[in-house]
Amino acid sequence: MSPAPYDAIILGAGAAGLMCAAVAGQRGRRVLLVDHADEPGRKIVISGGGRCNFTNIHTAPDRYLSANPHFAKSALGRYTAADFIALVERHGIAWHEKTLGQLFCDGSARQIVAMLRGECEIGRVELALSSPVGEIGHDGGAYTVALPRRTVTAPRLVIATGGPSIPKLGATGFAYDLARRFGLKVVEPRPALVPLTLGGDEALFRTLSGVAAEVVAKAGKAHFREAALFTHRGLSGPAILQVSSYWRAREPIGIDFIPDAAPGWLIEAKRHHPRTTLRRTLAGTLPDRLAEALAERLALTGELANTPDRRLDDAARQLSAWRFTPNGSEGFAKAEVTAGGISTADLSSQTLEARRVPGLHAIGEAVDVTGWLGGYNFQWAWASGWAAAQAL
Ligand code: FDA
Repeated sequence: MSPAPYDAIILGAGAAGLMCAAVAGQRGRRVLLVDHADEPGRKIVISGGGRCNFTNIHTAPDRYLSANPHFAKSALGRYTAADFIALVERHGIAWHEKTLGQLFCDGSARQIVAMLRGECEIGRVELALSSPVGEIGHDGGAYTVALPRRTVTAPRLVIATGGPSIPKLGATGFAYDLARRFGLKVVEPRPALVPLTLGGDEALFRTLSGVAAEVVAKAGKAHFREAALFTHRGLSGPAILQVSSYWRAREPIGIDFIPDAAPGWLIEAKRHHPRTTLRRTLAGTLPDRLAEALAERLALTGELANTPDRRLDDAARQLSAWRFTPNGSEGFAKAEVTAGGISTADLSSQTLEARRVPGLHAIGEAVDVTGWLGGYNFQWAWASGWAAAQAL
């Protein structure tokens, strides 16, 4: 039998697949990179509002969710944010830090795709676009993949087809089906970095659609100080997207609307400005419509002077730990990423190779590793792609 023309077939030309292909190609491997879309890296193109938040300088394993919190350490430690920044700079792409260590292109996110395509060309990677993947076989030594006009073989197969978030961009659950076929477990996928919806009594807050405020949002033990935004369906904004990854159905999330308040602040306000109202006091730090809605929900609309201290203390406590119980999320259609995925228990953290299926690797969002908002997910895609490429 003639040897397979490829050393590796990578399924999915997104962030992780492009990086893996480029690095493996530059290590002398003959790589075929396959995607059903007609262009590579579609999520990169629309990411970060078109400017791609390509990494975060504060990348650390504790900023990722996974059933095994240690799994991402190896890849993240060997291919760092600094490595990706060096690559971006070699390609002359100008960038800036926006906030909280988040690095964005000054220009278009398309520069990142062009950079990765350029790196793939240096590695002589063959790119097969508009190529839906058909039957996949494995005879113990080689993997065969049926493409529209040919069947290709290689001793190594990399699953880099991402997760099902934003199906209209070509996202699918293909990675999970394939992994299960080879006996790998899949941690229940769920939408993450996703707006949450409010119903019932809390639906009243939807009238605040468009109002935003800096808050501390909490779910379980996780808490994030960033902006929260009321929407016509519920809650969004960075603080809410962050906690959504930790939120479980039917559980409440907590919002501290006045994170900088000193103890007893409302009683102090009463002492200094007895004729003022809670609404006017809150409007000093919160948008007026939100201040009004919160004061009404607390049924404290009169002057502070006429309100007993005990009620003011209660109100202050509630404002610092407001409980919303979302009735759901906006789902995979709006989720920036998918939490869960191919179980890390079945993969090597060094090579991302399946422990019991030699030659099969899984990288990027397909794997049960999910980053915070802010460039962490791309950094995982680059790092896991790079780590797998060392073993191809
Ligand atoms: P990715 O989804 O990039 O690639 C998967 C590839 O597989 C796609 O090209 C797809 O077409 C292909 N594919 C799927 N099914 C297939 C099949 N059956 N056959 C063949 N090919 C198939 N992250 C971040 O760090 N900073 C940011 O600014 C943003 N911004 C952002 C905005 C929006 C709107 C979204 C939806 C997501 C982000 N993200 C982000 C998240 C980031 O885009 C995501 O984590 C990475 O793209 C994951 O990279 P992967 O390569 O794993 O999957």
